[in-house]
Amino acid sequence: MSHKKIPLAGVIGHPISHSLSPALHGYWLRQYGLAGHYVPMDVAPEDLEPVLRGLHKAGFVGCNITIPHKEAALALADEVTERARLIGSANTLVLGADGRIHADNTDGFGFIANLKQSAPEWEPSAGPAAVLGAGGASRAIIVSLLEAGAPEIRLCNRTRARAEALAEAFGPKVKVYDWADAASIFDRVATAINTTSLGMAGQPPFDISLDLLPATALAADIVYVPLVTAFLQKAQARGCKIVDGLGMLLHQGCPGFERWFGRTPEVTEALRAEVLGK
Ligand code: ATR
Repeated sequence: MSHKKIPLAGVIGHPISHSLSPALHGYWLRQYGLAGHYVPMDVAPEDLEPVLRGLHKAGFVGCNITIPHKEAALALADEVTERARLIGSANTLVLGADGRIHADNTDGFGFIANLKQSAPEWEPSAGPAAVLGAGGASRAIIVSLLEAGAPEIRLCNRTRARAEALAEAFGPKVKVYDWADAASIFDRVATAINTTSLGMAGQPPFDISLDLLPATALAADIVYVPLVTAFLQKAQARGCKIVDGLGMLLHQGCPGFERWFGRTPEVTEALRAEVLGK
């Protein structure tokens, strides 16, 4: 009698208790009746390398990587996808049969897949995209917007130098604006995105005017607590279609699940409700 190993996957971060990924992958495993486990792993930075090197022998087929390990995981990988290289960090690792570590970053993919599912009529090439914020999420989103055909990205960050450092990697399509001029970046855009924590519970309010934002634009936030942020409320009041940040999280998990467990998962309303209930 042969015993097939049950595939293991999980998410590595520090801390990890707030991660919604175990609820996400656990839901899909149950929903599709697949053998497999997905576990949260709290790993301190100094332990990341030995943990990653030991995962294959412990029965893991891969894992997600979250804060603060995304850059370090990329550096430790044996192979790196082009999009992970461009984004400069890894959120999804696949372990080969030989134990080699393949690193990918699915954040930008998840962002675009969510917008396409939530707003099928959205046409990223129809006009410039306005992006508030210049952190890690912003970088992944800019990579994916350019790939999706956005003709221009207007990037605006409180700390201008951070936006400039980010824009440098992309060439002339990414234009940097002063924080004082934030309201101006929304003029005639096809897409407007907030990647800052403004308006999040416990953070300062979102006080940028959206008076120039056209009603035809699609507005997206990466924050999902609350689901409808102050930025999205303002955009909705302008007549825009809005997309909350939860879908990006759910969609970024799809490529990893497919690689580890062999089934392409779906992002459904039932999944949203399940994850929100956690
Ligand atoms: P992430 O990886 O999720 O993008 P991050 O790297 O911490 O997170 O970036 C947070 C973003 O929110 C940054 O663009 C930050 O601006 P700074 O680069 O100036 O720090 C922005 N942000 C956070 N608090 C803000 C505030 N009160 N006003 C304006 N921008 C803010």
